[in-house]
Amino acid sequence: GFSWKLADHPKLPKGKLVAMIVLDGWGEASPDKYNCIHVAETPTMDSLKNGAPDKWRLVRAHGTAVGLPTEDDMGNSEVGHNALGAGRIYAQGAKLVDLALASGKIYEDEGFNYIKESFATNTLHLIGLMSDGGVHSRLDQLQLLLKGASQRGAKRIRVHVLTDGRDVLDGSSVGFAEILEAELSDLRSKGIDAQVASGGGRMYVTMDRYENDWEVVKRGWDAQVLGEAPHKFKNVVEAIKTLRSAPGANDQYLPPFVIVDDSGKSVGPIVDGDAVVTFNFRADRMTMLAQALEYEKFDKFDRVRVPKIRYAGMLQYDGELKLPSHYLVSPPLIERTSGEYLVHNGVRTFACSETVKFGHVTFFWNGNRSGYFNAELEEYVEIPSDSGITFNVQPKMKALEIGEKTRDAILSGRFDQVRVNIPNGDMVGHTGDVEATVVACKAADEAVKMIIDAVEQVGGIYVVTADHGNAEDMVKRNKKGEPILKDGEVQILTSHTLQPVPIAIGGPGLAAGVKFRKDVPSGGLANVAATVMNLHGFVAPEDYETTLIEVVD
Ligand code: 3PG
Ligand code: CO
Repeated sequence: GFSWKLADHPKLPKGKLVAMIVLDGWGEASPDKYNCIHVAETPTMDSLKNGAPDKWRLVRAHGTAVGLPTEDDMGNSEVGHNALGAGRIYAQGAKLVDLALASGKIYEDEGFNYIKESFATNTLHLIGLMSDGGVHSRLDQLQLLLKGASQRGAKRIRVHVLTDGRDVLDGSSVGFAEILEAELSDLRSKGIDAQVASGGGRMYVTMDRYENDWEVVKRGWDAQVLGEAPHKFKNVVEAIKTLRSAPGANDQYLPPFVIVDDSGKSVGPIVDGDAVVTFNFRADRMTMLAQALEYEKFDKFDRVRVPKIRYAGMLQYDGELKLPSHYLVSPPLIERTSGEYLVHNGVRTFACSETVKFGHVTFFWNGNRSGYFNAELEEYVEIPSDSGITFNVQPKMKALEIGEKTRDAILSGRFDQVRVNIPNGDMVGHTGDVEATVVACKAADEAVKMIIDAVEQVGGIYVVTADHGNAEDMVKRNKKGEPILKDGEVQILTSHTLQPVPIAIGGPGLAAGVKFRKDVPSGGLANVAATVMNLHGFVAPEDYETTLIEVVD
């Protein structure tokens, strides 16, 4: 029968502290002035790279290596941390939704049939991120869902859009809005009353995560549910163009707006009896809205009016909380993660990051599960992030504090594994501010040093890697790798990249003879879990992706 017990590693000892350090948004790319990691002073990461050649390598962090539909899909934190923690590759939300739409199964399952009950008498609302980034949502999936729902009886449809500019180029929201408008106008020509009803920039409206700032969700609620916003427009393209023309405006932070009819009334508040779908497949930035839409008891902000709706998520966003209770596509079932195994085998674990990445090393790492496996053996520490700012104004973020807390955890002797996410490269990279991203990379490097120094003191082992690329490339390039110019200017890349990420192992506790194998050249993030289990003195379960290390006598 099944057992949580892991076999002893034939050669590697138990009881060494292992520090698992994940740099967020830290890929490997050729040196260049838009490679902020190259430009920044990063002596610690440099010394790992230029140290023992068999203790540093690259691993794949994008596309099919992390369960995304194609090799053109950049990596992201959700799938990256899922792979790191689970040690196996799961078809992820993006892919599962593609499959369900292609087969039509999405329309046969419980979630769709539940919302469909409203179609005859009420409005169907679709709320989500409008882009082709493929990290949280995809516009082509929304288009298919619009078609599918209208063919199955939806007569009145309202779309509440969130503009991106974070997983895609800033300014691209205009083009996406035009595509969406064309789709809706096509539906209107078929007699369906379909319109955009509200909008706003994803970072300012709705898509907060890990409860960093509920005001963000409230702004969205006011526009989407109550039909109230400071800006009113006749159509979405005009709305986005006008709001973008304000000084300093960008897609990520557009203020909330509603679309109004000729009499100035909002065209799409959410009312009793309506159906609502949040069409993002990714969880972290949808769970707060899902709570507001679903929970009867709710005190995070004043909802003013709580319509009785039929609500479904594109996916279920939290399996533990069963949130939301209705969903169109079943999420990947990620079980038996490395964290759960290690805890069952007595490994005392400490995990830490600041708010904006806290769920990455806990929720995502543990296969999209909230909470502890065993509270006696685990401690998760969240350092509050600054809220209400863009991180280019505070590029050091809480790297130092994460470093200090983790150092203290290591020196306390209370843990066998410490696991951290250092967010700077990613969070500042997403702002598109190249200078600030250089500062961010330096801060991240310093945090790594602080942790590695503590590892040295206790005779432990470190594993330093990243979840996906971001800061190593800040411009859009052609196939040859040259920046693509538009009106004579480079186009700043706020998004993640397709680059591989480094992984380095070392520390005084690393047994002599441990090195990276040569026979897993296409290794990816999913190979890291087995590697870490080995470093704790265990053999990984058989169905895990193979370890990256070998021990030569
Ligand atoms: C975000 O949610 O901030 C971006 O869309 C993706 O960034 P992450 O995958 O690094 O969190
Ligand atoms: Co990111």
